[in-house]
This record gives sequence, C-alpha cells and structure tokens, in this order.
Amino acid sequence: MKRKALSLILALTMLASLVAGCGSKKEETTETADTTVAADTADAAADATGDSDLADKKVGVCIYQFSDNFMTLFRTELQSYLESKGFKAENIKIVDGANDQATQSGQIDNFITEGVDVLIINPVNSSSAATITDKVVAANIPLVYINREPDAAEEQRWADENMNVTYVGCDARQSGTFQGEMIAELGMDKLDMNGNGKVDYIMVEGDPENVDAQYRTEFSIKALEEAGLTVNCLTDQVGNWQQDQAQQIVANALGQYGNDIEVVFCNNDSMAMGALQAIQAAGRTVGKDIYLVGVDALSEALEAVIAGNMTGTVFNDHFSQSHSAADAAINYLTGAGNEHYIGCDYVKVTQDNAQEVLDMVK
Ligand code: GAL
Repeated sequence: MKRKALSLILALTMLASLVAGCGSKKEETTETADTTVAADTADAAADATGDSDLADKKVGVCIYQFSDNFMTLFRTELQSYLESKGFKAENIKIVDGANDQATQSGQIDNFITEGVDVLIINPVNSSSAATITDKVVAANIPLVYINREPDAAEEQRWADENMNVTYVGCDARQSGTFQGEMIAELGMDKLDMNGNGKVDYIMVEGDPENVDAQYRTEFSIKALEEAGLTVNCLTDQVGNWQQDQAQQIVANALGQYGNDIEVVFCNNDSMAMGALQAIQAAGRTVGKDIYLVGVDALSEALEAVIAGNMTGTVFNDHFSQSHSAADAAINYLTGAGNEHYIGCDYVKVTQDNAQEVLDMVK
C-alpha cells in the first residue's frame, strides 16, 4: 500500500515537473534524486544491520503543535513508518510543543537527559535552531529537523562543523509557484471580474516566522507576475495556519472589499477551509465569482476541489517527508550519515487529479 502510494507520488511529481518547467525547478529535480538516493541508502543500511539493532534505539520527536492538521498527518505517518523499520513503539516518544518554544526547549532538555539515541525536531521557532543544535550536538545526539527550515547560515554551520544534523522538507517556493500558476492558468477573462485590468486578491498567511508562509506568500504572486498578469493586493493578513482565524479574516475582507475580491490565496488548506466558510456565508461561489487556493491536500480540501468549492491545492507530501526523516535518523544510527539537506517535491492538485490524490492519502 505504501509502495503503491509512493510510486503514485513519483508519477505525479514527474508530471508536475513536466508541467512546471521553469528555471528554478532544475534544482528541485536534483533534490528529488538526492532524496531517492538517501532513502535507498537508508533501506540498505537498515536491511544490513537488521531490525533488531533498531529495536533498542530510542527516538525523541518534538512537534511544534499537535493541533496542527498537517503535522498530525506527518507525525502519525512518522510513528508507523518508524515502527515498520523496526523501532519498538515504546521507544518512540512524540511530544507536543504546544506552539511554545520554552515548552519545547524543556522537552529537548528532557530527551537529552533521558539519553535518546536520535532526535527529530519540528521547531516552534526556526530562529531557535542554532541554540537547539548546539545543545543537541554537545550531547552527541544526531538531529533531524523537519518541516520548519532553519536559515541558510545555520545549515551552513552543520556542513562547516561536520555536525550530524540535517533538514528534511520541501521547498516552499515551489508550493507558492504552483498556487500562482493554477490561478494564472485561468486567464484574465475569468479572473478580472471587475474589469480593472488587475488580479485583485487577498492573502491569508500562516505563521510569519515560518519560511513556508513567507515563500508561499511571495512566490504565488511572483508566478502571476511572471505569467504577465498585473496584481493588486487588497489585504494580506496572518491566520497562523488556523481555520477559525482565516474564516474571520476572509469574512471581514469580503465585508470590506465585496465583489472586488477575485482570488483568495491561503498559505495552507486549514485556512482555505475557513476562507471557504466565509465565502459561502457571503453568498459567493468559488469557480464562478471568486477563486480559492490552499496548500497541503488535506482530505477535506481535496473533496472541496473535486466538488468545485476550491480552485486547487498543492500536495505537501507527508509520506515522503516523514519517511525521509525516519530514514535520515536510521542513517545516523547505522553510521551511514546524511547530506545536510534532504528535499522533496510538491504536487499541483486541480480538479483533474484531486480524486487520485485523495485515493492515495485516505
Ligand atoms: C506547513 C503546512 C502548514 C503547517 C505548517 C507548520 O508546511 O503547509 O499546514 O502545518 O507547515 O509548520
């Protein structure tokens, strides 16, 4: 089942790269190849050492916030994949940082005291990465960061100082670009409903400290501009990845700007679901008098895309990311080691492929 899912992801990814075909994609294709190599190395290493070696290893996993929908998919898959690789359930401890860096830092200290063999960390604040890295490395514990990418200077330090530290994640620029492309492909005839020659949009951002939010905000609009469209930002607000906050923001914006809003960009699907509630409550209809895109490919968003209630979303591959993170942890435990960056690709999702993606993620 998992293998089937993965080959479908690969097929969809290849299709997405073919469709996308702009300069920056080259780098991403290389990263995919690297990921595949890293995953194969991990498989080989795990097979060579045998599952029994991993059964006694302790893994500590810090998640920034359990109530986050996407990170719930991620950690559930991570747990089952680690078990499938031979870790005992009681040796995998996953903790909730409750969106508070001080809480998470205490959890990391506890894991160090307990003497875990490897740590997988989804930081609350990526700006705390240097401090986290220093104490984990000083304790001689290998470290795999996930989902919230530390900055370039921090990643460079891992290479320069030859640290057993890596990051596993997708390049959020790609997800933003895909969102913008899905909107641009509709064409100005459909988009410019108020006839002012511009795409009038609102942006609902995730946590602004998070590079995913920053890049999706920037690159979705860049893709419109690169397609030759003129854009007009009516409002850009922070919804912290949360459905209820986005619903409020979009309801207020619809009250203020009314029919001038042609497109609603949300940095993730939870917020897009909130936006959809506000859009429907205001009597507007997606695909007819407004367009809406998100990121993640949560089941409810895929169902909305199939029903025509969302224009599109972008699959944020929690299978590939959680598997790569676990494989990277195993590579450290077996001594195989890792590159300091392990990437993956997003997949564009429209009405054409939403059902396929839904069948895979369900
Ligand atoms: C993003 C994801 C969001 C949220 C965020 C947390 O990649 O799209 O839904 O989970 O990570 O850092």
